[in-house]
Formats: sequence, structure tokens, C-alpha cells
Amino acid sequence: MNVHNNLERSKATKLSSDWWHGGVIYQIYPRSFQDSNGDGIGDLKGISARLDYIASLGVDAIWISPFFKSPMKDFGYDVSDYRDVDPMFGSLEDFKELLDQAHAKGLKIMIDLVLSHTSDQHPWFSESRSSRENPKSDWYVWADPKSDGTPPNNWLSIFGGSAWQWDARRLQYYLHNFLTSQPDLNFHCPDVQDALLDVARFWLDLGVDGFRLDTINFYFHDKELRDNPALPMDQRNASIAPAVNPYNHQDHLFSKSQPENIPFLERLRALTDEYEGRACLGEVGDAQRGLEIMGEYTSGDKRMHMCYAFEFLEKRALTASYTKHVFDQLQTKAGDAWPCWAFSNHDVQRHASRWNLDDAATRQHAVLMMCLRGSACLYQGEELGLREAEVPFEKLQDPYGIEFWPEFKGRDGCRTPMVWAVQDEQSGFSTAEPWLPVSAQQAEHAVDRAEADPQSMLNHYRRAIALRHAHPALSSGRLSEMNEMGPVLTFLREDSSEEIFCAFNLGSDTTEVTVPDGSWQTIGQELGGIEGGHTITLTASQFCLMIRKKG
Ligand code: BGC
Ligand code: MG
Repeated sequence: MNVHNNLERSKATKLSSDWWHGGVIYQIYPRSFQDSNGDGIGDLKGISARLDYIASLGVDAIWISPFFKSPMKDFGYDVSDYRDVDPMFGSLEDFKELLDQAHAKGLKIMIDLVLSHTSDQHPWFSESRSSRENPKSDWYVWADPKSDGTPPNNWLSIFGGSAWQWDARRLQYYLHNFLTSQPDLNFHCPDVQDALLDVARFWLDLGVDGFRLDTINFYFHDKELRDNPALPMDQRNASIAPAVNPYNHQDHLFSKSQPENIPFLERLRALTDEYEGRACLGEVGDAQRGLEIMGEYTSGDKRMHMCYAFEFLEKRALTASYTKHVFDQLQTKAGDAWPCWAFSNHDVQRHASRWNLDDAATRQHAVLMMCLRGSACLYQGEELGLREAEVPFEKLQDPYGIEFWPEFKGRDGCRTPMVWAVQDEQSGFSTAEPWLPVSAQQAEHAVDRAEADPQSMLNHYRRAIALRHAHPALSSGRLSEMNEMGPVLTFLREDSSEEIFCAFNLGSDTTEVTVPDGSWQTIGQELGGIEGGHTITLTASQFCLMIRKKG
């Protein structure tokens, strides 16, 4: 794929194998989507039961957060068997059924591969920690203490404290970027790479359409274990970790994002390319170099298809100037990178709360997401306009939140159960008490109520997704002329058949913008977009979309 193709492929000429390119992906956090067996925890059969709903949104694909065997210390992001389903979520048979049913409805399924680390209960780790001589002794990152007994270097865990945990049997430390129960695999060891590629092959053979690759830039660490330098005060922006986390004090030059990762990503891509129409979405977490890494990992057609970016998952709102800044950076640092944007996910406060958006602003952001260049990820419940749930300390499950409470409340507030039915016990999520409480405030926005109202947020999202799919310029065209006029962000999307002018007032001051010359027609009025002209006056949260056909 050359740069031109990458930028300008249009839906008309789009191969079905290109579904990911500008596609809309719906993220499911399986514990909290739909319980089918009355244990208070969502499961795969629950997802199958809701496929009609998901298909009705008009999305292209589903990404399901991990459902593999796991002690659930990090709720599935600590895998103890990569090739099986945790009994809590069902069985491998249930997954195959889900895959078949989804495919029958035209939905792709991406699974979440957590390759950077395993659970400490994984048999690989049990073997590795058993001695310094066993065949898997170097499958994890083991290092001797300094002479004073302290850890080998200053690397920090995202979940708090040193990234090193002492092991009394080997009399060595092991590396963990997250919980102590998530030991980091040693990608410098060729057998580890092979074993993980076998895991990917296992799921490709089963028929999955792609992978969301967890913490893809954490795969490799610096072999020499050099200390990370301190970050200057003014650069300690908190895009990956909350502001109260000392993880933000370091420039993670050596603990992640190592050059050796590229050849591994190329091996993974080559494997994926043996199968038709599969896609790799790598999650890149790096507060300093996120966009550069995205460019590095997605340029050309030999690495990842797209990278999942943190830029719009931040606390900082999507103002015109910030959005322009991100796209300018993307352009200069990573010209042909293909981003995948998300405003919400299972790790951050829901964006309606995080950015304090009212109803009109939430609707406007949904349209903006569908107009930005890149693929788009929606997080379950976002389509209902859900705000963050309040979870009291006694009900907290997330170890990250328990560690930093109350300054950072962790990730439970965005992981509470999906709300399906206003009147039902537990909002239709389960017949039992759920693992996290249903939010009464969220329950008011349940799916059945939203279905009954043509003007609901749910139906607005459906229309926004449909707009993107109706216009190849929006899903996969070029983006140019991004400008800020006070609070208003304007830009053009364009492919060989059409050009779309987009203007969004992301602030509160009424602002007039001038439309480029030409004969434009307004679109998106069914979404609340205002009628355009030579000039457009946009009040708070208003937007205007105009199209002109080429040739
Ligand atoms: C996932 C988190 C998880 C972490 C460790 C991530 O970025 O999205 O939920 O805790 O990786 O696997
Ligand atoms: Mg269940």
C-alpha cells in the first residue's frame, strides 16, 4: 500500500478486506455487557444475545476486551491461558458460536491480545520462576538486585511503585509494568516471540478478524536495563497515567518503545497477512512520543494496520486548538499513519463526564468523531450518552483505583454494567447482583427507552455512523486545511468523488466562519447540523457540514 492509496482509498473502490480502514469499531467490556447465566458477570453468550443491537448501530466490527483464562487480578488483562476462554465467560464453543453469528450479521470480531505480560499464574511463569536454569528461565525479565539489595533500576509500574518485584526462590527481581501479578514477558528471547505468534495463529485459524494488541509498545525493554531519565516538570502531562501517579515523572526511554519491537511487529503482520482481511490495532501508550510511535508502527504495509491513540482519551478537552495541534503533529511526525480514535474506553472516565459535555455537546462530539480521519472506536454505553458512574469505595474492584483512592478513583466508574431496560432489575444486565453496581443515573438512559425515542442519543449515534458510511470522503478520504477560528475547528475531507467541509464550534463563543468558494450543499441536518451558506454563524456546540461532488 503506498501513501497515496493509504490516504485516498474510497469506499467505492474499497476491498472488503479493508473494512478496518476508516471503520467503526464497537468496544465491549465483556464482564459488563450482558450476563446470560445469572452470576452477575457478563459473558460470551450474553454478547451473542445482543448482536442484533450491535448490528443495528451500523458499526463494522466489535472489539472484545480479554475473555481468556485469567485469575482476574486485572480483570482479564492478566492471562493464564491464551488458548482458552475463562469459565466465567463461557467456553471456546461459545466463542465460536459468537464468531459465526457475528459474521452472519456482517460484523467483524477483534480480540484483545495481551502479549506484553502474562498472569503470574501462567504455567510459563511458574516454570520460569522455579529456578535460574529451567528451559523457560529467560522467558520473563529477571535481573539481579543492586549490591544494596534494591531493584536493578528506577523503572516504575503504571499501577504504582517500582516495576520490579522480588522473587525469593530465584533471588532476583522480575519486571512488571502493571501489577506485580502481571510479569513482563522477555521479547528478546526468540522462543517467547515464537510462542506468542503461535497464540495469534491459533485465533486466526479460529476465524477472528483482527487483534487489538494491548500495550504494544511495552513488548521490549532495554537489554542493558538503563535508568529512565526524569522528565522536566513542565512535560509531566498526564496522558497515560493520572496526575497523582509518579509514573509521569519519568521519560520512559528505556522501559518501553524499543527499536527491537519493529521486527517483531513485522513478523506479526506477516503472519496476519497469511489470512484474508484481518487487521491489527496496536495500543500505543506513550505520553511523550505517542504519535511518532504511531507513525513508526503503521507506516507502509508491513507493520500494524492502525494504532490506538491516547490523544483524545485525555482529561484535556477537544478544543479547536488542541485538535488542530494533534492533527498537525500527526502530519509532521507521522504523515501516513493510520490512527484509531476513541473518546472513551474501559480505562478512562467516560468522556461526557471527563469533558463535562451537555447533551448538545455530546451529540456534536459523536459527529466530530465520525468526521475525523482515522478509524473510530466507540465504547459500550457511549451511544447512550452515559456519564461516569459513581462507585463507592466499598464496591471498588479496580486495584489501580484502590491504590490511588480518592485522588484517582480508578476505572470502575466506566466499567459498570450496560443498561438495557429501564424497568428491569439490574437494568436488564443480570438477574443477580452484578460485580459492579448498576448506576441509577445511567439506568435512566437504558436502551429500551432510547429505542422508543427517535431523537435519543442512541438514534443520533446511529445516524452519525450512517453518515460516515454514506461518505467515502469521511471514512477513508484525505484530511486537509484544518484550521481553528477561535473556538471553531474547520477542516476538509476529500476523496476522488467528493469534498466535505466540516465546521464545529467546540467552545461557547458564537463565531462566524467563511466557507471556501464553490457550490456546496448542506448535509447532516438530520444530526442537528445547521444550514450552511457563504458564511456560517455557529453558536456553542453547533456544527455545519457541506458537500460538493467532484467531476
Ligand atoms: C489495558 C488496561 C490494562 C493494561 C495492562 C491496558 O492498556 O487497556 O485495561 O490494565 O493494559 O494490561
Ligand atoms: Mg455470566
